[in-house]
Amino acid sequence: MQGGIGSDGRRRIPHIGTYQSGHTADHGKVLCMDNTPAPGGVVPRRRVLVTGASGGIGAAIAHAFAGLGDRVAVHYNTALDKARMVYDELPGDGHALVGADLADPDVIVEETVAALGGVDVLVNNAAFQGGPHPPSVSFADWQSAWRETFEVNVFGAANLTHRVAARMIEQGAGGRIVNVGSRGAFRGEPDHPAYGASKAALHAMGQSLAVALAPHRIAVTTVAPGFVRTDRVEHRLRGEAGLAIAAQSPFERVAQPSEVAAAVVYLASREAMWASGAILDLNGASYLRT
Ligand SMILES: NC(=O)c1ccc[n+]([C@@H]2O[C@H](COP(=O)([O-])OP(=O)(O)OC[C@H]3O[C@@H](n4cnc5c(N)ncnc54)[C@H](OP(=O)(O)O)[C@@H]3O)[C@@H](O)[C@H]2O)c1
Repeated sequence: MQGGIGSDGRRRIPHIGTYQSGHTADHGKVLCMDNTPAPGGVVPRRRVLVTGASGGIGAAIAHAFAGLGDRVAVHYNTALDKARMVYDELPGDGHALVGADLADPDVIVEETVAALGGVDVLVNNAAFQGGPHPPSVSFADWQSAWRETFEVNVFGAANLTHRVAARMIEQGAGGRIVNVGSRGAFRGEPDHPAYGASKAALHAMGQSLAVALAPHRIAVTTVAPGFVRTDRVEHRLRGEAGLAIAAQSPFERVAQPSEVAAAVVYLASREAMWASGAILDLNGASYLRT
């Protein structure tokens, strides 16, 4: 069977596994996320929630899933115009635009479920990185940097994950959760220690939840990218400082968002269930750990 989208709107791919009979991703029905048989090589369209998809890596992840025929909830917080552009340019149909602060996880889940009918894949990509806050900043600035960063990157992601996992368990068909962490959790972030620590916490959360959610056939993984060329870090990639950052990798460049998206798509695939608990380095050999 050839790949592509069939006339019924469902994704068809060359045979790469088996599917559960009678399960589809249509509204109100159940999508199977593990290796059980399905007739005809029909791959149901997954319902994918990507947080922080108004630009950068999140937008690339949204595009990658939509390109496979999946339906995507493009989540944003403040950047409605940018998120709408991402949404308008997604291939395929049936996508959704979901705006809310991560402090309101129930709103995010309710709007996603209302639009897509459920959630099969959650990508925890949204994150906050404020200004530099090395130990030389005032105690007040230090405290607010840690509070703000953990509020979004740890508590926001953890709370949303709780709500989505509950929904996946209720759906009864397994699922995938992929966290977007950071090389900084391992290599250190001397100017942004709260950010580095928040990503370490996200990595650890992914490992714990991989164990806790396995009985529900929900696989949980994390990617740990090094520098990725997005608007947020573009100013750091110019001039001499930019060349030094590129030289951290023996490939002498930083990553493109699409390279992170490709890994996320793999980790969310049915074939990657056995990667559950993994933290995948995506840093162009710029930081090697054992
Ligand atoms: N770029 C890199 O070099 C790099 C390296 C390693 C890891 N990462 C990680 O990759 C992910 C994406 O990074 P990026 O560079 O693509 O960043 P980005 O373009 O700045 O995207 C951040 C996203 O997070 C959302 N967000 C921020 N605070 C939020 C809140 N309180 N509630 C809900 N959403 C919120 C933003 O929404 P609005 O814009 O709509 O407000 C935005 O969509 C992050 O997890 C980041 O830590 C990036």
